[in-house]
Amino acid sequence: MAESLLIPSTANRKEIYDSLVPQIQALTNGEGDLTANLANISAALKEAFGFFWVGFYLKKENQLVLGPFQGPIACTRINFNRGVCGHCYTTKQVIIVPDVEAFPGHIACSSASKSEIVLPAFDKNGDVFLVLDVDSDKLNDFSEIDALGLSEVMKIVEGFISSQ
Ligand code: SME
Repeated sequence: MAESLLIPSTANRKEIYDSLVPQIQALTNGEGDLTANLANISAALKEAFGFFWVGFYLKKENQLVLGPFQGPIACTRINFNRGVCGHCYTTKQVIIVPDVEAFPGHIACSSASKSEIVLPAFDKNGDVFLVLDVDSDKLNDFSEIDALGLSEVMKIVEGFISSQ
């Protein structure tokens, strides 16, 4: 396993995703522990992009429960009918929120968070197993580039959750 990430020194996010995704694949390859893999993925995304908050919420019984993350402390449990994460869970869609203040029901874990993207990862039955939440302290910080890059990361996640 690589001991450090090699991140291109560019502000071009596509180039960073192109470099990072294979490194995340290598980092998690052959490791069967879910917590360890999610922890390293959140650290890799935080290190590569400097996002304000990066982390996972896992579906547990009838709620989303905080999993491995990087950033300030965050709300522990989210009901399926609440927040951007709940919306992602119920719609099974990638959600980009350019301005969190304009999203009805947004859960403000931190007032510094201005925009966010949330993506689902599915188990082998097609049910949402977890969501990845990435928050920025800048308005309108996420685009289709992030949706595509992070979807590649979620494909890797789906690879190891299918064996849980
Ligand atoms: N903003 C999210 C809650 C999680 S925190 O931002 C880390 C939401 O509305 O679901």
